[in-house]
Amino acid sequence: MRQLRSSPRPGPGDVLRLIRPGLRSRRPYMGAGSPEALARKYGFSLDRLVKLDSNENPYGPSPRVLEALARPLPYHRYPEPDSETLRHALAEYVGASPDQIVVGAGSDEVILLTFAAFLGPGTAVVELVPTFVMYRLTAEALGARVVTVPREPGTYEVDVEKVIAALGPRVKVVVFCSPNNPTGNLESERTVRQVLETGAFVLVDEAYYEYCGHTFVPLISRYPNLGVLRTFSKWAGLAGLRVGYGIFSPEVARVIAGIKPPFNVSTAGQVAALESLADRDYLMSTVRKTIAERERLFQELSRFEFLRVLPSAANFIYAEVRRGSARQLTEALAREGILVRQFDVPPPRGGIRITVGLPEENDRLLEALSRLEPED
Ligand SMILES: Cc1ncc(COP(=O)(O)O)c(C=O)c1O
Repeated sequence: MRQLRSSPRPGPGDVLRLIRPGLRSRRPYMGAGSPEALARKYGFSLDRLVKLDSNENPYGPSPRVLEALARPLPYHRYPEPDSETLRHALAEYVGASPDQIVVGAGSDEVILLTFAAFLGPGTAVVELVPTFVMYRLTAEALGARVVTVPREPGTYEVDVEKVIAALGPRVKVVVFCSPNNPTGNLESERTVRQVLETGAFVLVDEAYYEYCGHTFVPLISRYPNLGVLRTFSKWAGLAGLRVGYGIFSPEVARVIAGIKPPFNVSTAGQVAALESLADRDYLMSTVRKTIAERERLFQELSRFEFLRVLPSAANFIYAEVRRGSARQLTEALAREGILVRQFDVPPPRGGIRITVGLPEENDRLLEALSRLEPED
């Protein structure tokens, strides 16, 4: 009998041939880089670093979280499946029902799960740049195309006509970030409603909700094609424990919950999130301190002529760099032990995103900026 020899099986060394073509040369997302590596690179001890590059809560978690995690918990057992107790507490917090909520290992995982429900090869997502880069990276990892609509120069607002013009037949999802990371501005309800009316699935990322109090959640009852993302990483100071969640219409939540691994959120993460909700008065007092510092930092930064500072509804501030470049300024600050995030918008000089830190950290930044004033 003749053997079929058209495509010989790859050998063990050909493993990359088995990987989906778009992914073969992909590198992991680097984010801000590890503080340990940056401290080593710039010759600082970790406790001297002023970390203003990842929008974390500098006051840390609620003391109730630390007490609860110091007690023995059943770590030899699997966590509560589907974060059932936490979903009930979240339902009360957000004003939805538990069957509308999906909890993930950070909102990063909820982005992945939501996109996995709508996107794959042959589909597309609209991103409104500059914005949080994980939307692009996640969509690309799933084999979807990313349609980029730039925000308006100067204001970074979204021109809804441009979004609607970008909605080809392959576009399934449009992602808004409100307040937008890195520019700090809120999305208008009118714009989001107009896009919802087109029938596309609209994901609004409210990672910084607690810093602005503005939410799109009430629109979900009217628009089942709307989903909202939240996280415990920012206001609740739990970035290291990885807890985020999405609020959807019950029919969409059911599909996303069906994709989700059952034990995706650790016992420690679930307990910490529950304790944070129970201690939200304390956590909101740290949020208010950050908002007060944000306003002070905004005033002080506005005095530097080499920066154009944008008002922010979040726990960070974006500043366009008008002299030198954002890259040079970020490097110069890092050499002083102060970490901020650099962006290449607007061209050609770019901008920096500064997380609002503790008052003394913000003072160190301001003092360094007054010494480092770039020349052209
Ligand atoms: C807009 C936005 N969404 C989501 C995330 C991811 O947060 P999490 O820690 O919940 O995965 C971040 C983190 O920086 C963010 O800025």
